[in-house]
Amino acid sequence: MAGTSAGKAETEGDEQATRRLTANEKLKYASLVVLVIQNASVILCIRYVRTIPGNRFFSTSAVVMVELVKLGTCLILILGQKRGNVKELAACLYNGMVVEYMDMLKMAVPSLIYTLQNNLQYVAISNLPAVTFQVMYQFKILTTALFSVLMLKKSLSWLQWVSLLILLTGIAIVQVTQEEERAGKDQAPGQIYLVGLMAVLVSCVSSGFAGVYFEKTLKGTSASVWLRNVQLGIFGTLLGLLAMWWKDGQDIGEKGFFFAYTPMVWCVIFNQALGGLLVAVVVKYADNILKAFAASLSIIISTVASVYLFGFIVDVYFVVGAGLVIGAVYLYSLPKVNPAASLTQEPESYNTKTIPKEKGS
Ligand code: C5P
Repeated sequence: MAGTSAGKAETEGDEQATRRLTANEKLKYASLVVLVIQNASVILCIRYVRTIPGNRFFSTSAVVMVELVKLGTCLILILGQKRGNVKELAACLYNGMVVEYMDMLKMAVPSLIYTLQNNLQYVAISNLPAVTFQVMYQFKILTTALFSVLMLKKSLSWLQWVSLLILLTGIAIVQVTQEEERAGKDQAPGQIYLVGLMAVLVSCVSSGFAGVYFEKTLKGTSASVWLRNVQLGIFGTLLGLLAMWWKDGQDIGEKGFFFAYTPMVWCVIFNQALGGLLVAVVVKYADNILKAFAASLSIIISTVASVYLFGFIVDVYFVVGAGLVIGAVYLYSLPKVNPAASLTQEPESYNTKTIPKEKGS
């Protein structure tokens, strides 16, 4: 009798675990699709904001605003999870930031790196033609894969490595043809190519490391993804303010924090904040390499949208490059067959790992 009820409980437990896994799979694909759309729209917004003549807003203040918007959103989401109970929210924050202060301190590492990276990207975009920046920044696909192998002990099949290289080639072909289209238009006075190049290379390494570090922290503990982002956002805001004071303190003192903030700048800020939150969800339910593929697909989508919005002409290079990117996504997602294990196990897909159940999410 006891054996039967124990067996029943076990089956129910198995069913619950399967249901959780299926729900996680759905979240994984839904968040990836939204990330593709968000990435494509942010590229278009930035492109638009950069083509408008007039005063330039302070990029350091925009970095701070993005952090504040993310922080506020996460607090509202946690409050929602606590059914609007402010006391419970305060207890959750106290626990996450004071009681488990070591967990909080761990988030200082990616926060510092992301603040550096978010500022460096503006340096890179200001010193390089936009297209060169986009091509170079795709090298983060390789740095992400390398850090995933080193820090998370993920194993990629040779086909997956090849698909990463095909992805890079496809993106480079798509982007370089656009460079010819817009040669000269992106050149601004005072650009220093080497500074831009160094900034984008450091961004690639930092993007790979910070993303994988965040993935490791998120998947290794039971803390809610929103609480993790609150921890990240607090450090991010403080560090962003420090960077702002150091770089633009005097000018902002004279002209104001919101100098030259147009509705479109706000669009970019909210879009980037949404992107940051989506990154956290994608990293939790999928992984950083899939996130990199999503970013690449969105370059294709934003280019196709440019046909209608900016009169971009699709040529044979674009078709070849886009074909390579889509082929690479397909190759990468093929199930990995391990000859030694294939007789006894399901084909392993390294990214479908069981995620520990979160506290409060
Ligand atoms: O280019 P990359 O994919 O590395 O950019 C990731 C972006 O997502 C950064 O701007 C970072 O600030 C943001 N992010 C976030 N919250 C996380 C992880 C990343 O806002 N949990």
